[in-house]
Amino acid sequence: AKYTWVEKDTCIACGACGATAPDIYDYDDEGLAGVVYGGDDNTGNTEIPEEMYDDLQDAVDGCPTDSIKIADCPFHKEG
Ligand code: F3S
Repeated sequence: AKYTWVEKDTCIACGACGATAPDIYDYDDEGLAGVVYGGDDNTGNTEIPEEMYDDLQDAVDGCPTDSIKIADCPFHKEG
């Protein structure tokens, strides 16, 4: 299983992730990215389906500040 979460403290709102994986990431009022897939609300607790793994990895690779985290278990973050 794969889970993802965005570290907003280091996100510079570059916008690459939402362009690469719009079903997984979207932006808040400040333009900072967060996980929206399945109503995740950037908690990192929603399992990302296997068919989205390519988009997920492309987003991780494309983030200039390494703000997109992925792991095999839930992150349990708050927003
Ligand atoms: Fe932020 Fe990285 Fe996305 S800087 S907007 S998390 S590509």
